[in-house]
Order: sequence, then C-alpha cells, then structure tokens
Amino acid sequence: MNFWKSTIGQKQLVGLAGLALAGFVLTHMLGNLLILVGPRAYNEYSHALVSNPLIYAAEVGLLVFFLGHVIVAMTLQKRNWKSREVKYAVSASGDKATSPAKKSLWAQGMIILIFVVLHLITMKYGEYYTVNYGQGEIRDLHRLVVDVFHQPGYVIWYVICLVLLGIHLSHGVASSFQTLGFNHPKYTPKIKLGSCLFAAVVTAGFVVQPIYVYFLM
Ligand code: HEM
Repeated sequence: MNFWKSTIGQKQLVGLAGLALAGFVLTHMLGNLLILVGPRAYNEYSHALVSNPLIYAAEVGLLVFFLGHVIVAMTLQKRNWKSREVKYAVSASGDKATSPAKKSLWAQGMIILIFVVLHLITMKYGEYYTVNYGQGEIRDLHRLVVDVFHQPGYVIWYVICLVLLGIHLSHGVASSFQTLGFNHPKYTPKIKLGSCLFAAVVTAGFVVQPIYVYFLM
C-alpha cells in the first residue's frame, strides 16, 4: 500500500492508466475513420459497439482509468508545486532540461479533460437521430457528426484539442515507459521516437475527420 502512496508508485499508476487510455484513443480513432467509408458502415459499427453487453464493463474500465489518471496526476502535480516553492537559482540545461511540452503536461491534460467532457455532451449525449437499414431503427451518429463538423467553430476547437492531445501523447507515452522502468541508453531514443510516431498517427487519424466532413461532405 505504501508503494502506491509513494511518488514513484503514483507515477507508475498515472503511466499505466495513461497507456490504457492511449490504447483507447487509438481504437476510437480507427473506428471513427469509418466516416470516410460512409454513413452505413459508421452507424452499423457504432451500433454493434453500443449493443454489445461488454460495453458497460468497457465503459466502467475506461472511466476508472480516466479518473485514476487525472486524479493521481493532479495529486502529483500539487506535490511537485509544493516541493518547488523555493525555486532553483539555476535551471537545468542540455539533456537534463525539461522541455516546455513536458513541463506543461498537466496543463495539456486539463484542456483535454475539458475537451472530453464537452465531447461527451456533444456526441454521446447529443441529438439522437435514427436511421433504418432494414433491421430496425438504430442511432444515426453519422448525421450528428456531420452536423457538428459543418460548424467552423467546432472544427477549429477539435483541431486545436487534437493537436494538444498529440503533444500530450508524444511526451506522455514515452514518460510512462520511463517510469515503468524502460530506461536504457539504447532503448530510450527508440521509445521516444515510437511515442512521437504513435502520437502523430493518432492525431492525423482524428484531425482528418472534421477536415474531411467540413470541406468534402
Ligand atoms: C475527430 C475526433 C473525434 C470524433 C469524431 C469522435 C466521435 C465520437 C462519437 C460519435 C462518440 C459517441 C459514440 C457512441 O455513443 O456510440 C464518441 C464517444 C467518445 N469519445 Fe470521441 N471522437 C473524437 C475524438 C475523441 C478523443 C480525442 C477522445 C479522448 C481524448 C474521445 C473520447 C471519447 C469517449 C471517452 C467517448 C465515450 C465512449 C463510451 O462511452 O463508450 N473522442 N466519440
């Protein structure tokens, strides 16, 4: 129990939950790319997801990882601020310096938290259109997404938040591996590169959706 109360234990918890969330955003992005295929593929995929009884367990798991990641990260950040009340006279430089993106991980996280809450209100709990492809009525999420992304304000907000998510992932994934013990002169650069590639793929896969809907649909 003491381990999970220690800074390293809490960092590992944040890292583990963060990696699980990274897995979620990847699958969410891939599933959503069906918007490029067409309304039926998109709606039938989301209907298959929500009508699977396992969805409730998956949603509870997602919520636990999300809250765990956010709450423990905030606790660590508070502890960090407290211990730095007396600032160092000289900041670290070179390899030891912390990049601005890494220093502001928590601030990025706060904006992503706001994004997720608004996103759920817009999409999950948004307008409930229906459609029938011959097997009964199902939710027409495609119509909602198209409605939303035909509004320039939403497109700009989504693109900004998705780029921020990319920055958060590129540092967060590498940091998680580091706190979980994968820290080796030979592998660390590869982990950092892999983390950047992962973030770039997730961001590009998401960003393409509002842009495609706004300009081409
Ligand atoms: C272009 C970007 C995105 C689009 C078009 C999109 C679309 C959607 C839609 C349509 C839903 C409702 C699914 C349903 O009720 O069946 C949804 C749910 C959700 N989205 Fe997104 N999403 C995007 C980005 C994101 C990002 C970046 C995150 C997280 C950082 C995220 C987190 C969630 C969560 C947590 C849910 C609820 C899942 C559940 O309860 O099963 N989404 N999204």
